[in-house]
Amino acid sequence: MNSKEYFSIKFENDELIFLDQTKLPNEEIYFKTKSYKRVAKAIEKLEIRGAPLIGIAAAYGLALSIKKSSDQNIFLKAYERLKNTRPTAVNLFYALNTIKLSFENANAKNDLYKVILNKAIELHNNDKNKCDLIGKNGLSIFHKKSTVLTHCNTGKFATGGDGTAFNVIKQAYKNNLVDFVYADETRPLLQGSRLTSYELEKEKIPFAILTDSSAASLFSSDNIDLVIVGADRIAANGDTANKIGTYNLAVLCHYHKKPFYIVAPSTTIDSKLSSGDKIEIEYRNGKELFEINGRKFINKNLKTYTPAFDVTPSKLIKGIITEKKIYEYPYNFINE
Ligand code: MRU
Repeated sequence: MNSKEYFSIKFENDELIFLDQTKLPNEEIYFKTKSYKRVAKAIEKLEIRGAPLIGIAAAYGLALSIKKSSDQNIFLKAYERLKNTRPTAVNLFYALNTIKLSFENANAKNDLYKVILNKAIELHNNDKNKCDLIGKNGLSIFHKKSTVLTHCNTGKFATGGDGTAFNVIKQAYKNNLVDFVYADETRPLLQGSRLTSYELEKEKIPFAILTDSSAASLFSSDNIDLVIVGADRIAANGDTANKIGTYNLAVLCHYHKKPFYIVAPSTTIDSKLSSGDKIEIEYRNGKELFEINGRKFINKNLKTYTPAFDVTPSKLIKGIITEKKIYEYPYNFINE
C-alpha cells in the first residue's frame, strides 16, 4: 500500500469494508461485512476505533440492519446493540441518534435503506470535511518550527478523513512548522506505537516512539514545544476525556509551561454534560495489561486498574481546536 491507498473503512456494494486495526502494523487485513452485528463486534474489539470513526461505522451498521427489511424492531435492536459497544466517545451516540431521527422522519414509501445509507454517507463526508478544516485552523497555534508530542492515534485510523490532532501535525509539517514528532506508545493497546507510527511513516514525518512513562524525561530535557492530542468527549466546561495517559501530559505541560491542545470535531462536544466528572469512562479487561497482541507475559490472576480514558480538567487546556474555531479557556461553546 502507498500513503494514498490505506483507509480505515469504506462502504461499497452494500458492504462495509474495514481494516482490522488490532493487527497493525504487522498485518494489513481488511474484512467485508453486511452484518450490523459484525460492525458492533469490530467496534467492541477495537478493530474499528477512534471517536469519530466508531460513530461513522455504527451509522453504516444501522443502514445494514435494514437492508433486507425496514422493520422498525430490527432497526431498534441494531440501534441498542451498537449503542452498547463503547460508552465514552460521544460521537458514537451523536451518529446513532442522527440516524435514528432520519429513520423516524423518513417517509415509509421511500426505500428506507437508501435514505439511511445516504445519511451515513453524509455523516462520513461531513467528518472528512471537518478534518480538513481542523487541519487548516490548527496552523495558527505554531509560532516557530516546533517539536510536538502526541498520544494515542488521531489520524485516518480514527476518523472519516485525515484526522484531528494528527492532521494538525501533518499540515504543520507540510508548512514547515513542525520538525519532529514524539508519539507515546499508548499502553496497553499501543495505538501510538502501532498506528500513529504507521501513519507518520506513510506521511514521511520524522518521529520517535517513547513509552508513556518517558514523557516527563522528555519535558525535563526541554526537548518539546507543545502537546497536541485528540478527544473522545468534551464537557460543556471544556473538561476532556481522551485516551488514558492524556491527563499526565496536561499536568506535565502545566508544570513545564508548555501549551497543551485538544483537537476534535464539534461532534465531540457534549454540551449536555456540565463537567468532566459526568463522563462515563470505559474500563478494559484487566488481561490486556498482561498480554501484548495476544501474547501473554503474566499468567497470574492479579488485580488491575484499567480505565481506557482519563479526564483532563479544562483549565489545563490552552485551546480546543475544532473545525469552527479555536476555543480558549474558560470554555463556552454555546455562546461563541
Ligand atoms: O480506545 P480508542 O483507541 O478508540 O481511543 C481513541 C482515542 O482516545 C483518541 O485519542 C480519540 O478517540 C480521538 S480520535 C480522533
